[in-house]
Amino acid sequence: MTTSSSQKPGIFAIRDVRSLITETAEEGHGLKKAVGSWQLTAMGVGAIIGTGIFVVIGEGAGVAGPAVILSFVLAAVACAFSALSYAELASSIPVSGSAYTYTYATLGEIVAWIIGWDLILEYGVSVAAIAVGWGGNLNAFLDAAFGWTLPDAIAKSPEDGGVFNLPAVFIVLAITALLVRGVTESARVNLVMVAVKLVVLAFFIVVALFNFGTGNFQPFAPDGVDGVTAAAAIIFFAYIGFDAVSTGSEEARNPAKDLPRAIIGSLVICTIFYVLTALGAIGIASPQQLEDSDAPLAAALDQGAGISWAAGILALGAVVAITSVVLVIMYGQTRIFFAMCRDGLLPRRLATVNQRYGTPARLTIGLGVLIAILAALVPLSEIVKLVNIGTLFAFVLVNIGVIVLRRTRPEMPRPYRVPWSPVLPILGVLFAVYLMSDLPLDTWIRFVVWLVVGMLIYFLYGYRNSRLRREHTDGTPGWAREDEQS
Ligand code: ALA
Repeated sequence: MTTSSSQKPGIFAIRDVRSLITETAEEGHGLKKAVGSWQLTAMGVGAIIGTGIFVVIGEGAGVAGPAVILSFVLAAVACAFSALSYAELASSIPVSGSAYTYTYATLGEIVAWIIGWDLILEYGVSVAAIAVGWGGNLNAFLDAAFGWTLPDAIAKSPEDGGVFNLPAVFIVLAITALLVRGVTESARVNLVMVAVKLVVLAFFIVVALFNFGTGNFQPFAPDGVDGVTAAAAIIFFAYIGFDAVSTGSEEARNPAKDLPRAIIGSLVICTIFYVLTALGAIGIASPQQLEDSDAPLAAALDQGAGISWAAGILALGAVVAITSVVLVIMYGQTRIFFAMCRDGLLPRRLATVNQRYGTPARLTIGLGVLIAILAALVPLSEIVKLVNIGTLFAFVLVNIGVIVLRRTRPEMPRPYRVPWSPVLPILGVLFAVYLMSDLPLDTWIRFVVWLVVGMLIYFLYGYRNSRLRREHTDGTPGWAREDEQS
């Protein structure tokens, strides 16, 4: 589709990459460049290791049996191709907003809106669910350490038999305050939490290896390849988060080098830990034992290896691990929202940066309160699958974005390039679609409903208020016509 310069840009209008980068320096809308390569990698690990390995592994083991180990490998491979594409786009377009912004510069506004709306699902809804998991693990820790737990009325959602979930609300609001205070402080706190969770997982792996037996490995794959892929579609949740690194690209000191390093590095570190953890878990506990527990790794040490004191350590590790997931994913959420507001697809006045802290404080508090309300009331179940389908969809568009941008903007500086493009991005698309196809129909229906609501908002608000369309009307050159880009 093309437009002439006298026409209003259509729904497939494309943002100009140069103007995107220039806008990041606008007064009152520029974020502080404060984060280095190690901090970014830690941010990736911070976002990745959490509910997936500490909780969802049990469900995966129930579906695939011991072959859940292969599901971890399969999900990692699926992520790897997309991670390369994220790295290329993040290093070439170091602007807040991740997949949303890349799509705006490649596939056009309406696709960008769809992906932005989809990322709100991935990040916002998952933060609420992860916070609920945090509360559950806190109770498991209190139980193991002091033999005392919070009463159900203030520790569970109505659907799970409580009134509201106080721990989930507490963690969301505490992290909101931290994010308002500033990204440097957040990254520092995150570094400590990442160190703690790696030590706890290493502890699990070492204890499991000392008590390792091969008895639980038979039958290895009771449901064959189908079981392995179905579990991979669920376990995929454990890897979500490496993409969150790219949401902070505008605050990176040296995005060209640091972003690819952090995205790929954090994925590699987590894959190694996950595969060893899954191997260790099956070495000491049966898939059934893992599936039956809300804290499968603690249960593996307790029931499988008979080391009950370790259950408390694992539960505490899970609390710390999940805290940093909430931190980084919520950080990503605010930055995507920020970019969407700055583009006028959502109210632009929300995207102001607080002069004192250099962070989008108003937006962060607003989102924090909404997510806290959601976290008080929603149960964790099913949300994982919904978050997975949304994220996989984002991966599909990011991979396509790499291929399109190579054609439409071949001259654009690309500090990092995906090797063998378009083969690897195409593989990224195929793997993502493959995992999506393994998710249940219910999940697909919920996802489509979410997208339809998003379309209504776009046509009622975003289309009219889009900065790109307004600037065209005012004659300000902030946008590029589709025919100029192709
Ligand atoms: N990967 C993140 C987790 O497992 C979302 O909690």
